[in-house]
Amino acid sequence: MTVVPVIHAPDPRLQVISETVKTVDDGIRRLMDDLLETMYAEKGLGLSAIQVGVPRRVMVVDVARQGETAKPLKLVNPAITASSEERVEFDEGCLSFPELFAMVERPASVDVAYLDENGAGRELHADGILARCLQHEIDHLDGILFVDHLSALRRRLILRKMIKWKKARLRDIA
Ligand code: NI
Repeated sequence: MTVVPVIHAPDPRLQVISETVKTVDDGIRRLMDDLLETMYAEKGLGLSAIQVGVPRRVMVVDVARQGETAKPLKLVNPAITASSEERVEFDEGCLSFPELFAMVERPASVDVAYLDENGAGRELHADGILARCLQHEIDHLDGILFVDHLSALRRRLILRKMIKWKKARLRDIA
């Protein structure tokens, strides 16, 4: 397993619509292992393949709290098959937006169909933080970022902060 660099917004790659995976093979399994390793290293709760520049419908999630046993979920071609009418607000973040958070409203619970790492079809019902993470990551596969759920004003504000953050980072590297 390898930690790979995460793409930071704004970046046109984050708006790409990822392609459906036809076969869950060793390459896809390796990709999911790398995503998990990277997500744990960056202390995130979820990571999609496009965030490391791979436009395939693949993502990983682990919402176990610190000190709890890891509960990694690897999902290929995930799709929301049902979502609750009840919607909740949550302070959302993203590894492509380090240190930035914003309140986003989404359905409280969802059903998600996906293929597991062996290519078997599965379905799960999620609420709470897991429902939140799954919806956020599935959005990534469609080129949608959490800031796209905000007002244009809030979105511009956050993107401006990101541009500043990237410039400062480049200065630090140089
Ligand atoms: Ni994200």
